[in-house]
Amino acid sequence: MTAKILRVCGAVPQGLLFVYLLLILPWVAAAPPYNAVASADLLATKAGLEILDQGGNAFDAAVAISAALAVVEPTGSGLGGGGFWLLHRAADGKETMIDGRERAPFAASRNMFLNAAGEFEQQRSINGPLSAGIPGMPAAMVHLAEHYGRLPLKTTLAAAIRYAREGFAVGETYLRSIVLRYPAMKNSAAAADIFLRNGAVPEAGFRLVQKDLAHTLERIAAHGVAGFYSGPAAAALVEGTRDAGGLWTLRDLEEYRVVERDPLHAEYKGIRVTSAPPPSSGGVVLTESLNMLSGFDLRPVDTIDRKHLVVEAMRRAYRDRARYLGDPDFVSMPVERLTSMAYADELRADIRLDRAGFPVRKPSAIPAAPIEAHNTTHFSILDKEGNRVAATLSINYAFGSCFVPPGTGVLLNDEMDDFVSREGSGNIYGLTGGDPNRIEPGKRMLSSMTPTFLEDEDRVAILGTPGGSRIISMVLLATLDFAQGQAAASWVRVPRYHHQYLPDLIQYEKGGLTEREITGLQKKGHRLNETSRPYGNMQVVLWDKKNGRVTAASDPRGDGWALVR
Ligand code: DON
Repeated sequence: MTAKILRVCGAVPQGLLFVYLLLILPWVAAAPPYNAVASADLLATKAGLEILDQGGNAFDAAVAISAALAVVEPTGSGLGGGGFWLLHRAADGKETMIDGRERAPFAASRNMFLNAAGEFEQQRSINGPLSAGIPGMPAAMVHLAEHYGRLPLKTTLAAAIRYAREGFAVGETYLRSIVLRYPAMKNSAAAADIFLRNGAVPEAGFRLVQKDLAHTLERIAAHGVAGFYSGPAAAALVEGTRDAGGLWTLRDLEEYRVVERDPLHAEYKGIRVTSAPPPSSGGVVLTESLNMLSGFDLRPVDTIDRKHLVVEAMRRAYRDRARYLGDPDFVSMPVERLTSMAYADELRADIRLDRAGFPVRKPSAIPAAPIEAHNTTHFSILDKEGNRVAATLSINYAFGSCFVPPGTGVLLNDEMDDFVSREGSGNIYGLTGGDPNRIEPGKRMLSSMTPTFLEDEDRVAILGTPGGSRIISMVLLATLDFAQGQAAASWVRVPRYHHQYLPDLIQYEKGGLTEREITGLQKKGHRLNETSRPYGNMQVVLWDKKNGRVTAASDPRGDGWALVR
């Protein structure tokens, strides 16, 4: 950057230099001096930086990283899944969200996961081909490349194809998650062939080679959307799922469409918050929580009171998630009202400093959801032009549905569990809801994924994390940390606690609350539950415009890599 300016300056006549510098300086300040990538895996971060080095922009890098993660982190995301890519284009300031969320197959129906007695059979909504929505990930990658990138898919998918073909040694997260998912995995011969070793749980040193997946990626590189959603790949996907009891048809694949949606914007104490709109609940719940909290001065209050107020805001915002939110193409939602300050004022009015919950509190039987593994994934990118990407991608539970249609190498998602199958029954994350998020043919299931940008006068932050229902509360806690002026490395470390309305308890990771806070919160009437493991895998980038510094950080709870160069 400096060299470029000096070169240009050399060509400018002396008298004009001052005017010229005046014109160019704001532009200089508006472009970061470095590229930065934070993702859940070193190979994916490298794939992104390589693309930036080859002259690609952040959107090209996003394609490369999405594809690389699909290969190297099969616990979390993949071609058989979907996600949300929040974009900021520096040239014109355009902000948009690529919605590549899965859709229910056209043959899906409201009660497909209920048995004859009307009970929810969750095993069927998290394992096997019935649990899989129609993937959006390949279409979203192609859309990103065609509308925002400048490099061909052949180039941006090359690293992923190489990783799939040559293989790589799996890490600890893989080995832990495969133990958890072994019972489901061994039911799919194609999945077992790829992800197990001779039908058994692999051990450390296992090299994961995915030849079929490499071939499917090559088809996408060569034919774009048609390489996955029609032709031989589509035929294999449909035949494989149907042979195993699934409902997919060729029409499901042919009619899958990515949607560009306007992000949600909020303002919290001078910070501009840009986040995911429905069909993610992320932006709405984040905005509602921040709006409620903006009525309190959180700085001087005791940490017990502070955490109590944050929990009460979460409780109210998550209640609205359950009541109102779903796929905007199917249900009409009062998003404008929910995200208004007038509504937050109403919600805030019944928050009491001395007592947990609502004035009238119903007992709940829904248990806290287990947290066994890292699944889903997030990455953040900033390029030297100032383009930004915050992307959260998922196949839902660890290794998704654990089902691979033979010959495709594509591990399918189990995102159908994100729908509400039965009122009063929680999904795998304990989330409840009602009609807006019931299963309908072609509908997108409500998500909690919360890719987010934060901006104040000097700083730009790009962030997000996996973590099921806890994603939104993690992004909220990171936003409050940003608001206190903390560094990127601090946001990813923030001790985590969470409330999602139902179950009615504060879930916290070990160290997320001090003993004193736990006692203080109990005195106010909170029930608390320590999670079995720490949770989340946040990946962030910060650009401080005032001093020109770019930093990136990966969650110490995961194996992510954040690089700036
Ligand atoms: O879209 C959602 O909200 C979920 N499918 C995300 C799942 C997830 O983050 C799991 N991570 N631990």
